[in-house]
Amino acid sequence: MMIETAQAFGVDIGGSGIKAAPVDLEKGEFAEPRLKILTPAVSTPQAVAAIVRQQLDHFEVPDSAPVGIAFPAPIKPGQKLDFMANLDQSWIGVDVTEVFSEACGRPVVVVNDADAAGLAEQQYGAAKGQNGLVIATTLGTGIGTALIMNGTLVPNTELGHIILDEKHLDAEKYASSGVREQKELGYKKWAKRLTKYYGLMEKYFNPDLFVVGGGVSRQSDKFLPYIDIKTPIVPAKLRNEAGIVGAAYYASTKQ
Ligand code: BGC
Repeated sequence: MMIETAQAFGVDIGGSGIKAAPVDLEKGEFAEPRLKILTPAVSTPQAVAAIVRQQLDHFEVPDSAPVGIAFPAPIKPGQKLDFMANLDQSWIGVDVTEVFSEACGRPVVVVNDADAAGLAEQQYGAAKGQNGLVIATTLGTGIGTALIMNGTLVPNTELGHIILDEKHLDAEKYASSGVREQKELGYKKWAKRLTKYYGLMEKYFNPDLFVVGGGVSRQSDKFLPYIDIKTPIVPAKLRNEAGIVGAAYYASTKQ
């Protein structure tokens, strides 16, 4: 049974793993250790939703607990998905909230994964109390972005897909952590690619702060100092937990 200090349940759906945990919303941290299940090789709506159901069953999440799901695509409640970069293309045309709610047998709240992470950093982490424009980014299989202006999220930005130059028409295919792994790039070499990415973002948005999240943020000392831009750039405080914590937090605000 989900323990009592937990007030909401968060799930983070990624290209490689589906992670979930009960979340203590006062502290902004996991109330119990998370459970990670590998994303199925063919990541159809049915296959992914079945794993989310399995997560809820595992933690015996009570019916009264808000459930938030961080999902790697732009999410507009009540509308069908029209873009999917890193999960199976059969998600396109699907009402994501409906699929998860049906599989879980209860209403759930779905939010873009980078927006969830950004909200968590704004509420509990590296962007807490920050005025002006924060761009929170997640470096994983793809690149996710969240724009937060004076504490307010501008949802569903897809700035991981900006055109870098005539050779690189999709930034995440050049600079994501997934690409770093595939191409076995060293951290300094990767930081050069990240300089190109964050440099362009800086030029177009003039943010006050960049926050860098995703699993690789654990290694931030190996690449952040080599990203050569003017804007302050800091690692996410919640590291890879931000998606789960942010999804749980977001769901709690919707209940
Ligand atoms: C997706 C975004 C997502 C990001 C991180 C991108 O490929 O288009 O919606 O936030 O990956 O998962």
